[in-house]
Amino acid sequence: MALFNVSPVETTPFDGQKPGTSGLRKKVKVFKQPNYLENFVQSTFTALTPQKVRGATLVVSGDGRYFSKDAIQLKFTLDVLPFLLLPNKSVPTKKGGILNVSTSDALFCVNHENNFVIEHGYKIIIKMAAGNGVRRVWVGQNGLLSTPTVSAVIRERVGVDGSRATGAFILTASHNPGGPNEDFGIKYNMESGGPAPEGITDQIYENTKTIKEYLTADLPDVDITAIGATSFNGHDGQFDVEVFDSASDYVKLMKSIFDFESIQKLLTSPKFTFCYDALHGVAGAYAKRIFVEELGAQESSLLNCVPKEDFGGGHPDPNLTYAKELVSRMGLGKSNSEVEPPEFGAAADGDADRNMILGKRFFVTPSDSVSIIAANAVEAIPYFSAGLKGVARSMPTSSGLDVVAKNLNLKFFEVPTGWKFFGNLMDAGLCSICGEESFGTGSDHIREKDGIWAVLAWLSILAYKNKENLGGGELVTVEDIVRNHWATYGRHYYTRYDYENVDAGAAKELMAYLVKLQSSLSEVNEIVSGIRSDVSKVVHADEFEYKDPIDGSISKHQGIRYLFEDGSRLIFRLSGTGSEGATIRLYIEQYEKDPSKTGRDSQDALAPLVAVALGLSKMQQFTARSAPTVIT
Ligand code: G6P
Ligand code: ZN
Repeated sequence: MALFNVSPVETTPFDGQKPGTSGLRKKVKVFKQPNYLENFVQSTFTALTPQKVRGATLVVSGDGRYFSKDAIQLKFTLDVLPFLLLPNKSVPTKKGGILNVSTSDALFCVNHENNFVIEHGYKIIIKMAAGNGVRRVWVGQNGLLSTPTVSAVIRERVGVDGSRATGAFILTASHNPGGPNEDFGIKYNMESGGPAPEGITDQIYENTKTIKEYLTADLPDVDITAIGATSFNGHDGQFDVEVFDSASDYVKLMKSIFDFESIQKLLTSPKFTFCYDALHGVAGAYAKRIFVEELGAQESSLLNCVPKEDFGGGHPDPNLTYAKELVSRMGLGKSNSEVEPPEFGAAADGDADRNMILGKRFFVTPSDSVSIIAANAVEAIPYFSAGLKGVARSMPTSSGLDVVAKNLNLKFFEVPTGWKFFGNLMDAGLCSICGEESFGTGSDHIREKDGIWAVLAWLSILAYKNKENLGGGELVTVEDIVRNHWATYGRHYYTRYDYENVDAGAAKELMAYLVKLQSSLSEVNEIVSGIRSDVSKVVHADEFEYKDPIDGSISKHQGIRYLFEDGSRLIFRLSGTGSEGATIRLYIEQYEKDPSKTGRDSQDALAPLVAVALGLSKMQQFTARSAPTVIT
């Protein structure tokens, strides 16, 4: 066993290393600065305290996105690969040298040798883990683990010697694009499997402002492409790196939650057709294993399921704008597509925690999706057969779940945006299912939202509703399920307008204007009735604030709400996940109880409220934008 030494390396602080809603996200070129990643990792170790870090088992993995622009020159790949496979040639390399190849060759390598680029990130973290006294690091093969899998691995995986992980570095910028000019990110998850709470992320940020040195070990590189363990000897003891299969722990967990046999009957029935789009994110590493090998779906039902560092040049966010190929395959926006669309379609984001659910020519809003899963879970999903402990949604998510909770007499919670707020409720046994308008749905099986779980939940509901119909009888479709749900609980018409990459100062001014405006409801109502006389009155406005019922912590400034007499809501929030400029989100919701009026086109039904929202906020005046970047 090779002996390694630990030494401190001098460094100076970087500005702006404050983790956002889900960790630190920046452009690749920012992360590429020498010591940038190192400073953040050391600040995290310091925030966790040496007592928690020394002797620990940590998971280090991610969605496989591109880390460094240097890869285009293939500079540091020479450190990790003995030779490069080019389309028609194999070029031996010399450690540390620079090889000049054409960009297309380089891109081929990037895509072909999936993931070698971000070995750079792994190498840094693995060496710093050893330097900080960590006992072992677990890495998914090729550095790939979906975010939900990392959570599952922390909670469920037991090493050969009985070891369990107490945390994880997840290398992802989630749904943000990847590639040399795009985003990279890192976040830390805790022992529970959930994202670090604000107390820790604030401490990390404080540490990044004063950091003077970091600790690293002179370990040789570890091959993360091959499953197996490598051990090293330090002056303070042994350090192991264990590379394991990315999918098996997750598949095992899914099998313990869902009835795979009934889903398989549905997926293999000639009546049912299916399509899954991983948008070239890490979900691709799971889709074939679960949907094809375990559940019998056709391989041709998988779209973009080869993980790529740049997500094939796309934006790996599963919504109607970015999941174009799936949206067109599902026949949305066309009245008469030539090929009959599948009955069910779904997509995931880069790190596979988000999901979008579609029926044939039909979009299921994420807010409806969580309500429908909650309303059907006990009957359709074995994990919930004993009943739900409670349900929860984020503030901007539609109030549809509130109605389900009321009808089914379930505990209900409204939390700020950000999955971490659900964690405490789940740990306290108060919440089984939760969801967000931002295409996140999940349950207390882990402490992250879970894109593939959501698809399996929908397939379970479809399998349950169709168990008598697969032999003969008409298929109950996704659209039938949603329309029946509206007929029972009413419909929450819902849309979200995103203004991406707006000038940060202008966005702040708009928000400050809205905060000020809300102090006078009479003024607000005067403006509202001046814009549309057919919109009801604003009866309450505030800045959402949340007191965690478990630890009593208070989160302020979580979005501005205008609540109307008829139950409609307008919400304005700044995104916490962008990496440049500011993104303003405007959430618009209107409740319709009358079953004869739940079938309208959503944008039509919401048009009056949209006009009010844009006028009230002076959106165009502040942002100089006449239209949003994305509408969902
Ligand atoms: C991430 C979090 C979600 C949150 C979303 C909000 O995906 O995990 O819990 O809803 O970001 O993003 P935003 O850009 O609106 O802050
Ligand atoms: Zn994500």
